[in-house]
Parts: sequence; structure tokens; C-alpha cells
Amino acid sequence: MSHQVYLADRPQHFTVQPGETVLQAGLRHHLALPFGCQSGGCASCRVRLTQGEVEYPFPPPALSDAEIQAGYILMCLARPKTDLIIALHQPPMLDALRPRQLPCRVQHRRWLAHDVLGLSLKLPRGADFRWLPGQYLDILLDDGRRRSFSIANAPGGELLELHVRVTPGGRFAHWAAHEMPQRAILRFEGPLGAFYLREDSARPILMVAGGTGIAPIHAMLEDVLGRSGFTRPLHLFWGARTQRDLYLHERLLHWAAAHAHFDYTPVLSEADAPWPGEKGLVHEAVLRRHPDLHGFEAYLSGPPAMVRAGKSALLAAGLDADHLFYDSFDYAFETWPTLG
Ligand SMILES: Cc1cc2nc3c(=O)[nH]c(=O)nc-3n(C[C@H](O)[C@H](O)[C@H](O)COP(=O)(O)OP(=O)(O)OC[C@H]3O[C@@H](n4cnc5c(N)ncnc54)[C@H](O)[C@@H]3O)c2cc1C
Ligand code: FES
Repeated sequence: MSHQVYLADRPQHFTVQPGETVLQAGLRHHLALPFGCQSGGCASCRVRLTQGEVEYPFPPPALSDAEIQAGYILMCLARPKTDLIIALHQPPMLDALRPRQLPCRVQHRRWLAHDVLGLSLKLPRGADFRWLPGQYLDILLDDGRRRSFSIANAPGGELLELHVRVTPGGRFAHWAAHEMPQRAILRFEGPLGAFYLREDSARPILMVAGGTGIAPIHAMLEDVLGRSGFTRPLHLFWGARTQRDLYLHERLLHWAAAHAHFDYTPVLSEADAPWPGEKGLVHEAVLRRHPDLHGFEAYLSGPPAMVRAGKSALLAAGLDADHLFYDSFDYAFETWPTLG
């Protein structure tokens, strides 16, 4: 039996046919819905169900119990059992930022840290590619597989910056670091995801990054710290193993000195030299500084284990699930056909 899905914050509604997920049906109706992995892992398609009931083929991996209790669903896995009302909570401008596939040229490649490669990708002339700071793209590999990387710079020029962690077994990263020809042409799809700063709120902002999870947060900071009208307090906690992994440390210190409303706290989990700063797991440092998170808004990005632990700890400290946003840097899922 088919069901109707109504959007709480928009006039649109659409029909979900038997066997379809909410996301598949919405994209079939050409709605600009947020999504990423389409496998339940990244939570880019997380929305709040305000009325109705859904079922899943298996428990939604990316959602914590607290998020499920708060009424969140993953549209890429959820199938309606009744008619539904869902709240997208996304700015209307996102409708104009539908994902597209484009070529790009690798303009620069340099080591940002011993295991982090910086790639600058030049967009085709006149491409008019736009994104919200914090969103990511998928590099499309020759065999149809994809690899997700956050866009590390704010929009404005003709370059997209990526911070790519190079691991020995990493197929794309290893190739990009050691075998990719100069000025290689790549293809990508984007912008993707729902990790961007919500500007319809006045809450103080906590940013919690692990490793290359700093990339999307760097894009957000570059955007808002460049605007004189943005005065919400921002506190960034950046977790890394050792000092050499803090590859944007100087820039972040400089920003903290230049902007009274921006605080920066680096946190080392394996400090290998005398380190006067915070040590341990990054979310523990957040809670030492801000034990009560009622009234805050939080943005988390980085390794899946960090995001999982951080979500649970922050929600337990009083953070409202409606003001929790995250990008979990899951390893690549196998390829899937592009929808919509
Ligand atoms: C929304 C989103 C945004 C992301 N943004 C970024 C980003 O900005 N920068 C970034 O570096 N990554 C990011 N990732 C993670 C990245 O997409 C995956 O790590 C991807 O698998 C890397 O592709 P690869 O071809 O280099 O390695 P793969 O061939 O996919 O990996 C091979 C093996 O290497 C190991 N491996 C891969 N990546 C890691 C890692 N990061 N840490 C430890 N072991 C690893 C795993 O064992 C994996 O099975 C993001 C992921 C998502 C979902
Ligand atoms: S798109 Fe639904 S969890 Fe990734």
C-alpha cells in the first residue's frame, strides 16, 4: 500500500510506493532532500518524524537511542507504515544546491601533515558550483565506486580544497598521494550532506573535530569568521593523536587571537612531548569545559568512533538532539547507483 509523506516546513508532499524508502520516493519526486551514503551509515538523511510510523530492514546504524527517542529517522532506510509528516529543518536555499556530477582538475597537491594530503581541485570555468560550508563531495572512481571528502574551504573561488587522510590500504588516498599524475582530471558529485551551520539559531556553538574532521569545520569557520555580523560564541575542540597531527594549529590560534567570540582548544590523545594543553578524548575535554550543554548547539565531525562517543556524551550532558549535527567519516561503502 502506498503512503503520503508531508513536509512540516514546506508545502510539498509525495507518495511512497510499496517497497520504496522515503528517500527514494522523495528523490523520484525531484525534491531536494539531504542524503549521502544511502546505507544508513552517515546520517546525512536524518530528519525528524513529527507524525506517523516507519519500519526498517535493520536498526538504523547511524542513530543513537537518544536520537530515535527524540523522533529522528533515516530516510534512506525508513519505509512508511502510515502516512508521515517529516520536518526537514533545512534552509530553502538548499533546494538550489542539488548534487551534480562535474569534472575538476587537480591544481595543487601538498602534504598538510605526515599522513594528510591537501588537494586543490579546480572547477571548470563557468561551472557555478555552490555549496554550504561543511558539505562534502564524492570523488567518482573509474569502476563506479566513490569516496567521500568534505570540502575544507568556504565558497567563493574556483577551487575546492580537500584534506585527505592517507592510510596504507586507502585506495583513493594512496593513489592520490603516490601515483596520481600532475594536473589529473577527476570527477566528483556534490554538494552532499546536511552538515552546515544552522543560522536560524542564536545558541553558542560547540565544534568538535577529530583528525581530518577539521576539514568541514574549517570551511564553516572561514565563512563565519570572515563576516562581521556573525557574533555567536564559537568554541572549537580539535582532537588529534600528537602535536604533529594538528596541521592547522597556527591558523586556528591566529583566528582565536583575532576574534573575541572564537575559542580554540586542541586536545591530544597520545601527547608524545610535554604538552600543557588538554589531553585524552576530545569529547571528555568538551565536557570538562562545558559540563552542562543545555542551550548549546553542537557540530561533530571525524572518525565514526569519535562521533558515536561524542554524540552520546553530549546528549547525556543536556544537549538538545534538535541542535546536534554531525558528519561521521565512515570508510567507503560499496558503490550504489545515483538516484534522482
Ligand atoms: C560524509 C563523509 C565525509 C568525509 N570526509 C573526509 C575528509 O574530509 N577527509 C578524509 O580523510 N576522510 C573523509 N571521509 C572518510 C573517507 O571517505 C573514507 O575514509 C574513505 O574510505 C577513504 O577512501 P580511500 O580510498 O582512501 O580508502 P579505502 O580504500 O576506502 O579504505 C581502505 C581501508 O583503509 C582503512 N581506512 C580508510 N580510511 C581510513 C581512515 N580515515 N582512518 C583509518 N583507516 C582508514 C580502512 O581499513 C579501509 O577499509 C569522509 C567520509 C564521509 C562519509
Ligand atoms: S544517506 Fe541515510 S544514513 Fe547516509
